[in-house]
Amino acid sequence: GHPLDLTGRHIVVSAGGTREALDPVRFLGNRSSGLQGYALARAAVARGAKVTLVSANVALDDPAGASVVRVESARDMREAVLGLYGVADAIVMAAAVADFRPSARSDSKIKKTSGEPDPIFLTKNPDILAELGARRRAEAHEGFGPVIVGFAAETHDILANGKAKLERKGCDLLVVNEVGENLAFGTPDNAAVILSSDGTSTEVHRGPKEALAHVVLDLVGARLV
Ligand code: C5P
Repeated sequence: GHPLDLTGRHIVVSAGGTREALDPVRFLGNRSSGLQGYALARAAVARGAKVTLVSANVALDDPAGASVVRVESARDMREAVLGLYGVADAIVMAAAVADFRPSARSDSKIKKTSGEPDPIFLTKNPDILAELGARRRAEAHEGFGPVIVGFAAETHDILANGKAKLERKGCDLLVVNEVGENLAFGTPDNAAVILSSDGTSTEVHRGPKEALAHVVLDLVGARLV
C-alpha cells in the first residue's frame, strides 16, 4: 500500500455485530468485537480516504478522522449502508449481521411465567451484502458502482466455500477468515484468503488485523480507476 493512495476516495466500512430486539431490554446478538472493521477504518484514514464507519454495538474508541454512524439491528445497518451506496467508492462489509431476528418485538419486558415459556419465532433478515452485490452487478457494465467487499468465516473447504459465496453474494472481493485455532472473534490477529471475482486469490498469513486491512485496501485500490 502506498501512503495517501486513497485520497479523494470515500470508503464505507461496516463493523461489529447487530442486535435483534426481543423486548426493550433483551436481544439476540453475536460475539463480533468490531476489531477488524475498526482496523480497516483506521487503515483507510491513514491512506487518505474519507471514511464512514457504520458501527453496530462496538465497545471501541472511534477511529480518529472517520465519521461514525451507530446502528443496532440488521435493518438499521441496511438503511445506513444502502444510503451511502451512491457516494461510496468501496463498501467493506466487515460486520457480523444477524441472519435472523425475532419475528415479534414485545413493547414491554417479557414476564417470567409459571408455565412453559413461549417459543421464539424467527424471521429472515435482509442480506445487505447480496443486495449491494446485485446492485453493483446491475451497474457494472456501465462502469459505475462501488467496489463491494464481503467477509466470510469458514472452517473447511475454504476455497470452494469461499468461491461459491463470492458468486452467490455478487461481491468483488471476499475475505475468507480461517476460523478456529484461536483466530478471529475478539483476538487482535487474523488469517485469511482474499478471493477476487477475477479468479485470483491472495493469502494473508496470521498477523495483526491492521496488516490484513492494508492488504484488503491494496486490492480495493487496484480496482479503483
Ligand atoms: O452469508 P454470511 O453471513 O456468511 O456472509 C457474511 C458476509 O455477508 C459479511 O460480509 C456480512 O457483513 C454480510 N451479511 C450481510 N447481511 C446479512 C448477513 C451477512 O450483509 N444479513
